[in-house]
Amino acid sequence: MKMGHLDTDIKIFQISPSFTFCNGEIGKSDFKSFMEKIPSIDLVYAALPKPENFPLWYKLANRAKIPHKQFFSGLCKIWKEINAPEYHIEVGPSNKQQVLDFFSTWKKFPNFYELDLYYSAPLNGRTKGMAKCRNPTQILIYSLHPVEIPDVKYSHEYVEQIMKRRKRMNVFDPVIGKGLLARFAQINGHNCYGIDMNYERLECTIEYIQNNLRSS
Ligand SMILES: C[S@@+](CC[C@H](N)C(=O)[O-])C[C@H]1O[C@@H](n2cnc3c(N)ncnc32)[C@H](O)[C@@H]1O
Repeated sequence: MKMGHLDTDIKIFQISPSFTFCNGEIGKSDFKSFMEKIPSIDLVYAALPKPENFPLWYKLANRAKIPHKQFFSGLCKIWKEINAPEYHIEVGPSNKQQVLDFFSTWKKFPNFYELDLYYSAPLNGRTKGMAKCRNPTQILIYSLHPVEIPDVKYSHEYVEQIMKRRKRMNVFDPVIGKGLLARFAQINGHNCYGIDMNYERLECTIEYIQNNLRSS
């Protein structure tokens, strides 16, 4: 794994040509050098940190919290810069409107879908296990082309299905956490790039991807 300290406040982890992750804080860090390293992206997925959970995510990351608005405006800049043909965004009642407002001003996507799910995410970097909770969540899908929407119950089943496409894709998650997207990207031969401010969570992603690279 190559590690670069190209900016003072972000760290880039290039696991292989197919997997590059960045430890940095959206809303605060400068991601220029990371964005220059990644190819053009075909699909964006993100299970967004909800405003009510924002203090907890910051406590876990051991960082001084910024306003959620500042995070969201940094996130929108990244989404625009990425300029992908397809976005799959997991939201709750407290942040759905923000996302709807952003995409309605962007006016780029003729296709929109929404789907009800329950939240799930990887347990750790060593097992395939998922923490499945009964917290309702919703996926908002914006796309340039029609998308086949999976009939599934949990976030991980949704991501598993959308990664089953035959064409090799470059996929991106700006809040990649323990790496739900990266896992299913790897199984299906896609390339995956992502950001998280919490190094311990990002380490789970790196550990899982590295272990599977070694055994393949
Ligand atoms: C709902 S979780 C994402 C779960 C993810 N799908 C997974 O597989 O673990 C939200 C993530 O957002 C990250 N996060 C919150 N605020 C952030 C910020 N300002 N910049 C970057 N990451 C942030 C948290 O550390 C957390 O990992």
